[in-house]
Amino acid sequence: MYKIKDQALIKTCSYIAGNWQSSQTSFDVLNPATGETVAQVSDASVEEATLAVAAANKAFKAWSALPAHERAKLLRNWFNLMMEHQDDLARILTLEQGKPLAEAKGEIAYGAGFIEWFAEEGKRVYGDTIPSLSPNQKVIVTKQAVGVVASITPWNFPNAMITRKAAAALAAGCTFVVRPATQTPLSALAMAELAERAGIPAGVFNVVVGEDAVGIGQVLTTHPDIAKFTFTGSTAVGKILIKQCASTVKKVSMELGGNAPFIVFNDADIDEAVKGAIISKYRNAGQTCVCTNRIFVQKEVLASFTERFAVAVKNLQVGNGIEDDIQIGPMISSTAVDGVIKLVDDSISQGAILHTGGNRHHAGSHFYQPTVLTNVTPDMSVARNEIFGPVSPIISFDSEDEVIAMANNTEYGLAAYFYARDIGRVWRVAQALEYGMIGINESIISNVAAPFGGVKQSGSGREGSKYGLDDYLEIKYLCMGGISQ
Ligand code: SIN
Repeated sequence: MYKIKDQALIKTCSYIAGNWQSSQTSFDVLNPATGETVAQVSDASVEEATLAVAAANKAFKAWSALPAHERAKLLRNWFNLMMEHQDDLARILTLEQGKPLAEAKGEIAYGAGFIEWFAEEGKRVYGDTIPSLSPNQKVIVTKQAVGVVASITPWNFPNAMITRKAAAALAAGCTFVVRPATQTPLSALAMAELAERAGIPAGVFNVVVGEDAVGIGQVLTTHPDIAKFTFTGSTAVGKILIKQCASTVKKVSMELGGNAPFIVFNDADIDEAVKGAIISKYRNAGQTCVCTNRIFVQKEVLASFTERFAVAVKNLQVGNGIEDDIQIGPMISSTAVDGVIKLVDDSISQGAILHTGGNRHHAGSHFYQPTVLTNVTPDMSVARNEIFGPVSPIISFDSEDEVIAMANNTEYGLAAYFYARDIGRVWRVAQALEYGMIGINESIISNVAAPFGGVKQSGSGREGSKYGLDDYLEIKYLCMGGISQ
């Protein structure tokens, strides 16, 4: 495969109980930039998913009993190996997912960073002693790994969306089964190869790659041996999975869809706002849950922002992400491109004005031109739906109250961004926005030390940061009596 130095990183079978498990049938992993087959991967079924759960269950007792610093050593080995193989992992990621190589390298460092972070955080799982109501009792609180964790992860961040969950789970003492998206299984399998080289015991980290999303999903959300389920993906699918988890009352954490507002107030530094909007909107070709979805600009600065923003958008280099200097790669599928075309066309028919872009890109069938729409109103489909593509709808506003109401008028609550300099406004707006994460004069807010997660229908639980371990731990209360003589 294209310039991968360590060919042993290319794995095409599920990784279960420390074995590479082939199946009778396989499916093609396609390069979204070219349509070429990158690899043929064994198609695991419900049977393999069940085996993976059994392997994780068997490995749980010994893994959870290891001292945290022993688990940390193995996690650190894994982190080191991922960074050593950053270039190869990034190439694999770009080939199957499409994002530009520089972004893919960034994702590997970001993803590996969670392993390093949680290796350390796992050593700091403290309990409590609580003053007792009785002289005859001691009240002690300890924390324990929840058990086997199952997860389903998306194609837009094939590496980091796995490590953000798996590293926290493993550091807490849980064992882990992941079904990665079938568009991007190679990144997950390469990580499994490195986990094995790092010395992570068989059964602790399992990867089940299979096209039977419903069947495998059913196992991972209903199997009685799974204690916790975690998902990153759309709100619609998240709701189905939460319902399925209810049958065995699993602990769940969900990182779901977004409809991020990006607000430019009249006291903003406009050049900074333009730079921020470009990064937040167009990274990963707009296929990010925290991507800017609606740009609100105060009337006084509408013309100057729009003019500078549109120039910057026109200058974005679109093409195959494996080539040098590309900033926007392909979208994941032709269906995804069709969805964006429909949103843009509908909005234009409802009165939006096409400022730049608005068509398929000549680079190939999965490419769409970076697009800017003006004269957009909040009721248009492009403003109500998660676009998940390289399209910026610009909506103008008069007052702070008006824009806060428009920004909050959505069932989503993942990320929001605003640019302003007035200190009173900064506090008022940060308080009023109903979102789990707010970028203030900043558009890249994700990092290992920060709690990632949403409110409303954008999900529950937090990933990364010191809070990211909580979802993988149970609080256990010990009441010790018979103390008084
Ligand atoms: C996502 O799209 O869900 C993750 C984005 C990020 O971690 O910044």
